[in-house]
Amino acid sequence: MTHDAAPAPLTAHPSEPLRGEARVPGDKSISHRALILGAMAVGETRVTGLLEGEDVLATARAMRAFGATVEKRGETWHVHGVGTGGLLEPEDVVDCGNAGTGVRLLMGAAATHGFAVTYTGDASLRSRPMARVTDPLSLFGARSFGRSGGRLPMTVVGASDPVPVRYATPVPSAQVKSAVLLAGLNAPGETVVIEREATRDHSERMLRGFGAHVETEATNEGHVIRLEGRPELRPQNVAVPRDPSSAAFPVCAALIVPGSDVLVPNIGLNPTRAGLFETLREMGADLTYENEREEGGEPCADLRARFSPAIRGIEVPPHRAASMIDEYPILSVVAANAEGTTVMRGVSELRVKESDRIDAMATGLRACGVQVRDGADWWEVDGRGAGGVEGGATVAVHLDHRIAMSFLVCGLAAKRAVTVDDGAAIATSFPGFVPLLRGLGAPL
Ligand code: S3P
Repeated sequence: MTHDAAPAPLTAHPSEPLRGEARVPGDKSISHRALILGAMAVGETRVTGLLEGEDVLATARAMRAFGATVEKRGETWHVHGVGTGGLLEPEDVVDCGNAGTGVRLLMGAAATHGFAVTYTGDASLRSRPMARVTDPLSLFGARSFGRSGGRLPMTVVGASDPVPVRYATPVPSAQVKSAVLLAGLNAPGETVVIEREATRDHSERMLRGFGAHVETEATNEGHVIRLEGRPELRPQNVAVPRDPSSAAFPVCAALIVPGSDVLVPNIGLNPTRAGLFETLREMGADLTYENEREEGGEPCADLRARFSPAIRGIEVPPHRAASMIDEYPILSVVAANAEGTTVMRGVSELRVKESDRIDAMATGLRACGVQVRDGADWWEVDGRGAGGVEGGATVAVHLDHRIAMSFLVCGLAAKRAVTVDDGAAIATSFPGFVPLLRGLGAPL
């Protein structure tokens, strides 16, 4: 848990070229889902490549509290599930730490079980909006009681006689979509989610893998997902691919540190996740896909990133936001090292992540000598050209792993060192980040 961990400042100094291979950890989104669906199948699911970051470990503890057996033997995680509709009432408050995905997916999965669960998390998670999930869950018949503004701690009383739901998501959010689908597992009949723009589809893919009947269709209304309720989920062997959102950090570091050449092997390139890499290529980054292939139904490749002195600012297409929503912080660091201005619009969701990411990045970048303008759902970063960021600042990460990693990468390419006030937050999603970057030659 990050709750009471003492802040651990961490400094990145201007770096020599980064070289070598960066083996990043398993995908956070897929890891949460593998544990949750494994716990809702009857029998033993085996998971390899699971991200052992704090967020996912909190979900593992939660699934035990809901009655599943979750243990690691050797390199494999074994999950003995309790079956659809078979979750048990936890004996205590379920603490999801820093994990928005964890708490929202769990709220969904448990909402169609006839018992109450109280959820909490760290200071970051306790400040984030939960009504986006509890509103649709109320349509199934669940009731929720939380703090003002729909914030944690919150008790959700599950529906003992749930009805299926048809729900159009008001915000582009895979967490909301997934919470509704997981709730729909234990409702009779067909649960339907409609999203205006397609968000990451790991839940749909994995539900199908576990034997649920899920159909998706692009219509005039939007992207429609239909789930047949009360399937018998069959246990699976899940090989979790490496996380493109974690790959983003060594990739972007290599693009902006002079002389770098880094290979990041075996990265999932699911189109609902790969928007950053497309954007970087449009900006003129020397980023290539090697050994393109399919693994476990997901496209993947080895990424090679080389120092790219001529990166240009662009206007990032707003329709691409969902496919790179977690990558705007690190993109803004690349943008600060580009020629010209990078414009990012349609990104109000960044304000309700682990921190207000527009504010956290804008404040830190300004302290490093970069001009940033921002509004409710947009921001612009004026590039200073390769190596042009002054640095020499200490920035606040607000319990946000991606803000911490973004500013450490910033410091590697700046004129003067950059310090983050709390490196401990990084363990949320990327516990080996510091040794991995040091292994490439980064002076952290
Ligand atoms: C996630 C969805 C995204 C993302 C988060 C992981 C998921 O959040 O930011 O890191 O695994 O479903 P939203 O669904 O709220 O956009």
